[in-house]
Amino acid sequence: MARTLLMAIPHRVGALKKALNILSKHDVNLKKIESRPSKIGTSLYDFVVDVEKEVPQQKLDSAVNELKKLDAANVITYLGGSNIPWFPRKISDLDKFNQTVLSAGSELESDHPGFNDAEYRKRRLKIAENALQFKHGSAIPHVEYTKGELEAWKQVYNKLTTLYPTHACSQLNYVLPMLQQNCGYSENQIPQLQDIHNFLKDTTGFRLRPVAGLLSSRDFLNGLAFRVFHSTQYIRHESSPLYTPEPDVCHELLGHVPLFADPDFADFSQEIGLASLAASDDDIKRLGTLYWFTVEYGLCKQEGQPKAYGAGLLSSFGELEYCLTDKPEIRPFEPEKVAEQQYPITTYQPVYFMADSFDRAKEQTKAWAAKNMHRPFAIRYNPYTLSVEVLTEARRLIPIAKDLQSKMDALHGAMEKIVALQEQDNRLEFAE
Ligand SMILES: [Fe+2]
Repeated sequence: MARTLLMAIPHRVGALKKALNILSKHDVNLKKIESRPSKIGTSLYDFVVDVEKEVPQQKLDSAVNELKKLDAANVITYLGGSNIPWFPRKISDLDKFNQTVLSAGSELESDHPGFNDAEYRKRRLKIAENALQFKHGSAIPHVEYTKGELEAWKQVYNKLTTLYPTHACSQLNYVLPMLQQNCGYSENQIPQLQDIHNFLKDTTGFRLRPVAGLLSSRDFLNGLAFRVFHSTQYIRHESSPLYTPEPDVCHELLGHVPLFADPDFADFSQEIGLASLAASDDDIKRLGTLYWFTVEYGLCKQEGQPKAYGAGLLSSFGELEYCLTDKPEIRPFEPEKVAEQQYPITTYQPVYFMADSFDRAKEQTKAWAAKNMHRPFAIRYNPYTLSVEVLTEARRLIPIAKDLQSKMDALHGAMEKIVALQEQDNRLEFAE
């Protein structure tokens, strides 16, 4: 577990050295140090320091107490105690997840349809390597899919798209033609992640990152906080096109991608992601369950009827049909109940939760997270810098207040103009 200090230090010779000497005196070894101009004033620099996990808490506390007395360090913020997990602060921090993939490439379970196919495993490994080398900002490598892979895609695509008009939510049916037009969605080709990434960035600011295999729940959810979706690039084994025990391009591109082009759904997904940053393991488990019953297996009410929006449903012909029959139980979406619900992972779901709308689900999730997540500080996403700000001090709130003020001014200005135009029209009408 990482522990982090934030020190705002005057921009003068020797000031940082004094602070570092204190840390050294207390045997506080550092893992990482980053600096940036401070938002308090131009004469200060913020130093964000990650402390090595072996450093005893008592020594760290002593060092922090001494630092607080130091004239050279204006503000010392201790970002949590010993149990705050590391979390990405900026979008490029997601590059670290390349090294933490739980399974990748040719590591298949014995019940995987491609387990005994050496060629398939080799192919998977090659595609997974693209993802392992990927860095934020670089182009997602193009994959030339084989004839067999294209055939598997075609079967899945044709089966699913026949069910979408009756079973999928209106958002998917609205977006799919746009994906066909802009990203090459069709029965005859597997769309490229880079084309989808460009499209999503323009519509909702969501981004795709290729991933070599399964990520932990924490890493995967942390990505959503930055409006980043980790997508596999390989496809299921061609011997069983309608079955896959793991995510593949059919699941990602047909199940997930269309919804990320919907602004309300994108915001909802990011809300889950933001709640996951620095969350405890127990909270990650509950958020993972919430994610399961929404982004993967969610239903929403449209014109009084349940429709599917979860990717696990939208990418499975059998379960997409089943979920709208009278066999499963459909309950209203209430985050406090959803987060505690048990679920099977190898069979169709016996229970689904139905949201009134994505916007409403987002508000419910936000309120639930604010009440139930145990993180000792608030976080704000900065869409300009693609980073998160940890709101531990009043000074951090000043830019938010200024931003709010500027938006209120713009709203007020727009209202005044509209009212003036309406009054002018009324006067002209009266004069006629
Ligand atoms: Fe998924």
